[in-house]
Amino acid sequence: IPVDPFDLVIFGGTGDLARRKILPALFRRFVAGQIEGDVRLIGAARGDMDRDGYRAMARAAITEFGGEESARKKDLTAFLDLLDFVTLDARGTEGWEPLAALMRPDRIRAFYFSVAPALFGDLAKRLHKHGMADERSRIVVEKPFGRDLDTARDLNRTLARHFSEGQIYRIDHYLGKETVQNLMAIRFGNVLFEPLWNSQYVDHIQITVAESVGVGGRGDYYDKSGAMRDMVQNHMMQLLCLIAMEPPAKFEPDAVRDEKLKVIRALDPVARRNVVRGQYEGDGTQPGYRNQVGNRDSTTESFVALKAHISNWRWAGTPFYLRTGKRLRDRASEIAVVFKDAPHSIFGADAGRHRNILTIRLQPNEGIELGVTIKEPGPGGMRLIDVPLDMTFAEALGPEEADFPDAYERLIMDVIRGNQTLFMRGDEVEAAWAWTDPIIADWEEEGATPLDYATGSSGPDDALMLMHRDGRRWREIR
Ligand code: BG6
Repeated sequence: IPVDPFDLVIFGGTGDLARRKILPALFRRFVAGQIEGDVRLIGAARGDMDRDGYRAMARAAITEFGGEESARKKDLTAFLDLLDFVTLDARGTEGWEPLAALMRPDRIRAFYFSVAPALFGDLAKRLHKHGMADERSRIVVEKPFGRDLDTARDLNRTLARHFSEGQIYRIDHYLGKETVQNLMAIRFGNVLFEPLWNSQYVDHIQITVAESVGVGGRGDYYDKSGAMRDMVQNHMMQLLCLIAMEPPAKFEPDAVRDEKLKVIRALDPVARRNVVRGQYEGDGTQPGYRNQVGNRDSTTESFVALKAHISNWRWAGTPFYLRTGKRLRDRASEIAVVFKDAPHSIFGADAGRHRNILTIRLQPNEGIELGVTIKEPGPGGMRLIDVPLDMTFAEALGPEEADFPDAYERLIMDVIRGNQTLFMRGDEVEAAWAWTDPIIADWEEEGATPLDYATGSSGPDDALMLMHRDGRRWREIR
């Protein structure tokens, strides 16, 4: 269904995110027919560029990052016609009048702040001053939303001076991933799982977001951030919320976000012994972390594993193990819900120990798998084995249906539709920082250095110990 006509301004319109994600996502929605002709897409940035230059830049970016659709030259040319460009100084006066002149009355207006957070306040203020911040306007902001609770609060306060909460779209691109949204469908669309979804039946839950790539060219940003701020405070936290939250009464923005917030607020502080940090080593062909970021003394972590507890009626006693890192064995993100043993085995000790595990594969090879215990075929005694009921979405739905849109496609369209369900509310972000801050503060106080781990491994051995100690083990990253 096509969205209503809109004007979208991308501040930082020539930057990395615009080139890799925002412009290609808009283009694909255009090809899909969701964006029609009556739309203006305006790049705004410093530097000398004109409309044609911007279109040429966008053409190159979409050709590189736009996927198969970008081969459709006619579509690409029609899409580029929607693009305009304004040279603009976020902290000065240049460009603001021309930008305001491009905005059309009676259109939805969206302003994408794809710039450093230090500029958010300047942009908000000038949008207001130049009459572009009315009730049809909305702003989109990217992570990192602050680097701790204080800075996140400041940002929230600054934005709130000019925009209401209902106009602020804080992006966590994990929420735009098809399989992440599917977590809610699986939980709340089926009667099968929910009755078992609690500490009475669930032994523990593992959430893994493993990447095989290193920090690449983002060393400057990453070294000041680390895995805790880059992944745990936001993406991992969102996954945890969706897995652990109570059923919202409706699939509506505040109903969903209220429930997520309750989960974050119910998280216990994490004891030092329940957190492991790591930093990857080089492997002869690829540089180690410190070399790569050009900081020989860096103590920034590229890996975190931790054990979390949610102190509420549903989850008291069921640990949540989280792990994420770069340069691990493979790119594999999944959530595994490991159920408890059957209360009594009628087959005796020889049958061994068996448990059901529900695995939700987020990426790649998206799908769900349920480990079921059956009889080992053969004339022998009653021997049990575990086999997977395995559903790969690409097989179940057909490759075309399972050709999931990029997270940004969904999220940008939601901004235009005015649907905040998949965006983080200010209080949610603050609560997430309130939980991660003490963990980071503890590292800083301790002056701890992260443990080395080999490129291509599954992280430091201590991360394995975190589970072994509890008589459990991580699922393999494969
Ligand atoms: C980003 C992080 O938010 O998410 C990156 O800054 C990380 O460090 C990326 O690589 C992972 O996203 P995806 O979609 O590739 O799983």
